[in-house]
Amino acid sequence: MDNNELIKEILKLKEEKGAVILAHNYELPEIQDIADFVGDSLGLSQQAAKTEADTIIFCGVHFMAETSSIISPNKKILIPDLEAGCSLADSITIEELRNWKKENPDAVVVSYVNTTAEIKTETDYCVTSSNAVRVVEAIPSDKQILFLPDRFLGAYVAAVTGRDIKIWQGGCHVHEKIGEIDFDAAHEKHPDADFLIHPECGCSSSCMLKSTVYEGCGNVKIVSTEGMIDHVKNSDAKNFVVATEIGILHRMKKLKPEAEFYPISDESVCEYMKMITLEKLYNTLKNDEFEVKVPAEIADKARLSIERMLEIV
Ligand code: 13P
Ligand code: SF4
Repeated sequence: MDNNELIKEILKLKEEKGAVILAHNYELPEIQDIADFVGDSLGLSQQAAKTEADTIIFCGVHFMAETSSIISPNKKILIPDLEAGCSLADSITIEELRNWKKENPDAVVVSYVNTTAEIKTETDYCVTSSNAVRVVEAIPSDKQILFLPDRFLGAYVAAVTGRDIKIWQGGCHVHEKIGEIDFDAAHEKHPDADFLIHPECGCSSSCMLKSTVYEGCGNVKIVSTEGMIDHVKNSDAKNFVVATEIGILHRMKKLKPEAEFYPISDESVCEYMKMITLEKLYNTLKNDEFEVKVPAEIADKARLSIERMLEIV
């Protein structure tokens, strides 16, 4: 089948099954275009929590589908490719977390949502990049915080909140490669551009410090992927430099065709997100595969940390 035929079949099957298709901002353009909702980790979790559909097709990575299964244990959660993982979620094991907690018995554990369901069972608060600062601010100031697994998001949150946070030294292989941004060179190339930087980037905490002092640049925003989209909607800028996975440029260009969007690097590609293709999405709907179901004993222990994340937006 060619893409047009696949699209027709997917829409037909989706209708017949009463399914909803959720897609992350990094998905391939054709997957974003066919989805009912495209968004960041927080937005997708919120949609999964509120949808009335019995079946959710999750076009994203495995931990995102797991999160939906935890929030909505009675719904069928399907992912088009079970191999769509996340290097950041893999950067801490449950044994490592248990040992870390033993060394810090009174600490509050704050985990980025990019973690496995098992890690969430040992977590007090989950956060996404769009609400990490607000969640940490809601924790009493006399509490020691263990933040995991992303060291750059952790450093960013510590810098913004001024809290003394112990940070796990994990990272995402796509974002950690986005190192220091040479603002002078970027400004020379794109003099009136706004700079949009994901807090998982290797440069985020130093960029944040620079952005407060670097007057030559337009707006410098360190935000989640949906925060970037909101910024594009509301900014008068004609040029945007984007420091995150390049899949998001598709949505930005659709939103503002008259503007120019420059990725900080053409190589910022998450191969896990790109595993989800139209053909696999079609097979998912046709064969009801592959189900992601977090076992009840794990889901019941993991749910509170996610509910707390959804409460603080
Ligand atoms: P967002 O929550 O900003 O969409 O980020 C998710 C992610 O996996 C970033 O790499
Ligand atoms: Fe995970 Fe990085 Fe891919 Fe995001 S971009 S899903 S953090 S591997």
